[in-house]
Amino acid sequence: MNTAEAKKEIARLTEVINHHNDLYYQKHKTEISDYEFDQLLEKLTQLETQFPELREPDSPTQRVGGTITKSFNTVVHKYPMLSLGNTYSEEELIDFDKRVAKGLGSEAYEYFCELKFDGVSISLIYENGILVKGVTRGDGVRGDEVTTNVKTIRNIPLKIKGKNIPEQFEVRGEVFLSRTVFKQLNKEREDIGEETYANARNTASGTLKMQNSGEVARRKLDCYVYYLLGDNLDVESHAESVAKLEAWGFNVSDTYTKAKNIQEVLKYIQRWEGKRESLPLETDGVVLKVNSLLQQRKLGFTAKSPRWAIAYKYKAESLSTQLKSVTYQVGRTGAITPVAELAPILLSGTTVKRASLHNANEIARLDLRIGDYVFVEKGGEIIPKVTAVDLAKRDKKSKPIKYITDCPECGTELIRHEGEAAHYCPNEDGCPPQIKGRIEHFIQRKAMDIDSMGEKTINQLYNLNMVKSPADLYDLTKDDLAKLEGFKDLSIKNLLAGIEKSKEAPFEAVLFALGIRYVGKTVAEKLARHFKTMDALQNASYEQLLEAPEVGEKIAQSLVHFFSDKGHRKEIERLTKAGLNFTVVEKETKKLGNSLDNKSFVISGVFEKYGRDELKDLIIAHGGRVLSGVSGQLDYLLAGDNMGPAKRQKAEKLGVTIISEQEFEQMF
Ligand code: IVH
Repeated sequence: MNTAEAKKEIARLTEVINHHNDLYYQKHKTEISDYEFDQLLEKLTQLETQFPELREPDSPTQRVGGTITKSFNTVVHKYPMLSLGNTYSEEELIDFDKRVAKGLGSEAYEYFCELKFDGVSISLIYENGILVKGVTRGDGVRGDEVTTNVKTIRNIPLKIKGKNIPEQFEVRGEVFLSRTVFKQLNKEREDIGEETYANARNTASGTLKMQNSGEVARRKLDCYVYYLLGDNLDVESHAESVAKLEAWGFNVSDTYTKAKNIQEVLKYIQRWEGKRESLPLETDGVVLKVNSLLQQRKLGFTAKSPRWAIAYKYKAESLSTQLKSVTYQVGRTGAITPVAELAPILLSGTTVKRASLHNANEIARLDLRIGDYVFVEKGGEIIPKVTAVDLAKRDKKSKPIKYITDCPECGTELIRHEGEAAHYCPNEDGCPPQIKGRIEHFIQRKAMDIDSMGEKTINQLYNLNMVKSPADLYDLTKDDLAKLEGFKDLSIKNLLAGIEKSKEAPFEAVLFALGIRYVGKTVAEKLARHFKTMDALQNASYEQLLEAPEVGEKIAQSLVHFFSDKGHRKEIERLTKAGLNFTVVEKETKKLGNSLDNKSFVISGVFEKYGRDELKDLIIAHGGRVLSGVSGQLDYLLAGDNMGPAKRQKAEKLGVTIISEQEFEQMF
């Protein structure tokens, strides 16, 4: 390939990847598999390595991380990152307003109100429109340079497009994990037997400082920006700065408003107090800024914070209630979670009876005792937490809680692995919640996807001694199921059909379903692709396992441990006999031609000859692309019967060529 061809191909790949990125991150949709996506990126990376002069600073390859930083450079902030004065009371807010009024003499002024986002502050340095540095707050004077990690955050522009971009400027904002992503991350950790994270902010902070930027990219951090700094920015108010940030493509939360006076600010505070739960991240208050930059300069700074801004913090509702007892839950992996059983109280609109205590260390940290009055808070996290003990109300005779030594479910003595906070019940094969948990894990959507079965059915099957391991599911008969309470002909048929259908699940799903510790969905995919068959994987040595992508010592050890167990091997044998997939089926779309090269299609309606998936495959096989929505860039709308009139109208308006199934066939 010569340079001109490479340039063209790089531009094409960039466009396709950006399209899929945009679909995924903005519209939460996918059109191609992770594998296909990885291949596109791989191709682009290869070309950029071959032709480094063609690598654009905003190439999608810059987002995927992969670099390892041993230690982060320390950077001195050009403008120190100060904190904000804060208050919990309206009176103090009114006092702040009086100080502002006094500081400005008789001038009129207005405020700009924003929410206070509970994330990790970040400073982004741009030179000639290109993101050159991302720096953490650190001690306010100097922070850590985490540029490679920051670049993985999709809504931080790598390159600003537009006219009159200042030579140098700095943008500040808050990096966070959205509630959805945080929940998903914890679900994934639960799936692989890792301890879950207690709080999104700390997790975001830890993520930003991870040494492996590839892992950071997978965590899907997010960012809101709220501050533009620099010389010659051609803005006179904070509102204008915000508008500029928006125009440059930064992610600004649209929750801000201007307020003419402090009364309007108070209204904003009240309005958001009830509504903030609906936002994608946690907010712990409101930030109020004098809008005019000239007035900001007039008011200046104290040693620690600006005199032109203040944070009003919402009070986290915290109530005291009595700790009745501590119970212990046993998870699928045998991990024990202590739970505080509380005298019920109404907290932020819901009755709270239980709170997680995480592990033995947490109980010791709180010096918790049965009968204590404890403060319970509902942060943004769904599970309420015990924050402190009301020592004044403590019974003098009370004794610290003794953590259990034996499993509450099966009586086996608990163990604690070195360096881990959780206690474990090692009785994998005889402890009921572990067995049932493994089956629940096996049937879940991401795994074998047997949606006709749920927790209740598993309980019954277990109690009736019919299912003790996933392989038993495939021996179930109609007669067995007829013994289950509430099961009639139709539900029996559905359940059996669901089990049968699960045999189509691909190898990587089966591998994930087995519930090997530390083998989540992604690792399972990589392992499947690397080893191709279960045989190869089972018989791989520790060293061979380490050669697979994503596999470090922890995962390799876990795999060796899992496969060295005779029981596990036997189970895999039974599952193989049942007909599950233990080999990768490579679904490569064979290239059939290039008559549709670079042409984009939207498929809509019902067709005579082909199914939609077949059409999609045909387009891809001939070099074309399939998009989900009609836009000005679209080449063809492939129209079948019963296509919505709105789509047709839009295509006509935008001048997109509309073709029939027959016309499509004639194209190749
Ligand atoms: S403005 C000089 N606006 O709160 C003032 N900060 O306690 C610059 N924060 O370090 C900060 N949301 O990390 C500002 N809308 C917002 C904010 C915000 C969250 C954080 C930020 C800052 C801390 C100050």
